[in-house]
Amino acid sequence: MPPEILLPDAVARAAAVLAAGGLVAFPTETVYGLGADALREDAVRRIFRAKGRPADNPLIVHLADAGELARVAATVPPLARHLAAEHWPGPLTLVLDARTDVPSVTTGGLGTVAVRVPDHEIARALITAAGVPVAAPSANRSGRPSPTTAQHVVTDLGDAVDVVVDGGPCRVGVESTVVDARGPVPLVLREGSVTREQLGARGEAVAEELAASPGTRYRHYAPSCRVVTAPPGRAGEVAAALVAAGGAVGVVTSRADAPGGAVTVARFDGPDGLAAVLYRALRDAEDAGVDVLVVEEVTEEGVGRAVLDRLRRAAAG
Ligand code: TXA
Ligand code: MG
Repeated sequence: MPPEILLPDAVARAAAVLAAGGLVAFPTETVYGLGADALREDAVRRIFRAKGRPADNPLIVHLADAGELARVAATVPPLARHLAAEHWPGPLTLVLDARTDVPSVTTGGLGTVAVRVPDHEIARALITAAGVPVAAPSANRSGRPSPTTAQHVVTDLGDAVDVVVDGGPCRVGVESTVVDARGPVPLVLREGSVTREQLGARGEAVAEELAASPGTRYRHYAPSCRVVTAPPGRAGEVAAALVAAGGAVGVVTSRADAPGGAVTVARFDGPDGLAAVLYRALRDAEDAGVDVLVVEEVTEEGVGRAVLDRLRRAAAG
């Protein structure tokens, strides 16, 4: 019988691969990341190749602890210090001025660096053991939904990744909130489960915020089936009309009753629940041969705003 691989052993082995310039996919509380040594240009280039990611879309650097910020950030202004103290470890990414020794492949040549400390024991143990800051985008092929299980990573990236550390399904399910923390007030570049209210940011995005995050320009979260949104509580009606029009219809709903003629792909309870299942549901719908997936909307409370943002991008397909 092969020896059992215990978690600390798996983390140590994955960390050795990272330290040697390899690619390691690992779980975080948001989605799985595809990690490499953020300070090694050759290693970071492999991330872009594996994902098919445009070179001008910079990566988030993951640290085990806020005390390591000085390894990648040139300065840590008071606002950033405050937000890190309030929200780390957690799903908040801070954009700061980069140290000049952070390779431009990592920063997209922007002169800034995005950093976060993930709230996941395996992720932090891995980063600590590797002893390097870890650049990690979501571990999907570019343009696919972010992976929330190790199997999603294997499906998308296969042999292009050296190691996948399986930590089970991700708790949050949508990517971190990205905030430019260089100025006097936080500028939200990407919505996430840390809300504008929690950050003390403005309620509505302003033009400079939307322009400042390269990733938001690209087509994202695109499943191969059509995605249609339904108002809260009305996924069944919308699905029934689509079934009548012909084709295989899937539903992601908060309701217990199965809509006539449609397949229930996932059920959820509230905004947190939809965030946790949305990306998996998009992939499952494809695998089930669904032509149209009806997803019931949630309120904008908490992570609701971020999950609606992702859902509308998928529906815009
Ligand atoms: O939750 C997450 O953030 C996950 C996990 C793995 O940590 N990571 C993730 O990475 O979603 P990625 O690469 O899929 O998205 C990073 C986003 C992109 O929209 C990118 O353009 C933006 O962060 N970003 C990265 N560096 C930036 C910078 N220096 N300035 C502005 N935006 C930046
Ligand atoms: Mg991504």
